[in-house]
Amino acid sequence: MKTTNLVLLGPPGAGKGTQAEKLTAEFAIPHISTGDIFRAAIKDQTPLGKKAQKYLDGGELVPDEIVIGIVAERLRQQDTEGGFLLDGFPRTVPQADALTDFLTAEGRRLTAVINIAVPPEVLVKRLSGRRICRQCGAVYHVERKKEKQAGVCDQCGGPLYQREDDREEIVRNRLEVYFRQTEPLIRYYQEAGLLLEVNGDQDIAGVYQEIITALRGTG
Ligand code: AP5
Ligand code: MG
Ligand code: ZN
Repeated sequence: MKTTNLVLLGPPGAGKGTQAEKLTAEFAIPHISTGDIFRAAIKDQTPLGKKAQKYLDGGELVPDEIVIGIVAERLRQQDTEGGFLLDGFPRTVPQADALTDFLTAEGRRLTAVINIAVPPEVLVKRLSGRRICRQCGAVYHVERKKEKQAGVCDQCGGPLYQREDDREEIVRNRLEVYFRQTEPLIRYYQEAGLLLEVNGDQDIAGVYQEIITALRGTG
């Protein structure tokens, strides 16, 4: 069976989580979102959650050594052997280097890195309108992807909530952090011959189609 090891790159609000849901269902691979891992740890007040909380609340990055350890541990689990999708990792050059080293040491490699490009002014709107299911993580938007019954998830009936860091001033800081620390990875993966660029400023189905088409050319 063909292994599909994907990374979704893109600014906050680009639609990484939205596309990840579709892609992981299509390829039957686990969805590894570092943001989701941290939010779950914060909710449960685990030692990791206690360390991570102040960074997420302020829209800053969790230190590399913490994130790298978490992802390495996750990628050692058996369910990633047939492929995986990383959403929100790597986010810095040291994280990308650590991922390359880790995979190489295990005789694995990335299939592709998909960069979802969206202009900054669109991102603030998307994030401030985002709502998420507390139970299953499904993502909605108050204008563009409304749930059928107000405040209730279409997929599982769970309650919807707004993320702490989706408040406008925190969103602006997340974007600054993205441009400073994460955007250099576009070039990094271009040089590695792994980058697929997609236009994220179109409807959700259109972005998905572009990703699927781009992936056909990879091996
Ligand atoms: P994380 O959870 O990764 O957040 P993020 O990168 O800021 O990305 P988002 O989840 O906000 O956006 P998304 O691209 O997933 O968009 P979505 O699909 O939801 O990270 C959070 C925090 O955790 C970080 O700030 C940091 O503190 C920490 N962290 C995580 N990873 C880390 C790492 N590697 N290193 C260090 N720290 C780390 O869509 C957004 C909205 O837009 C939704 O409402 C959706 O419905 C809507 N939408 C989606 N697609 C479209 C479309 N095509 N058209 C219109 N609307 C759309
Ligand atoms: Mg996300
Ligand atoms: Zn749900």
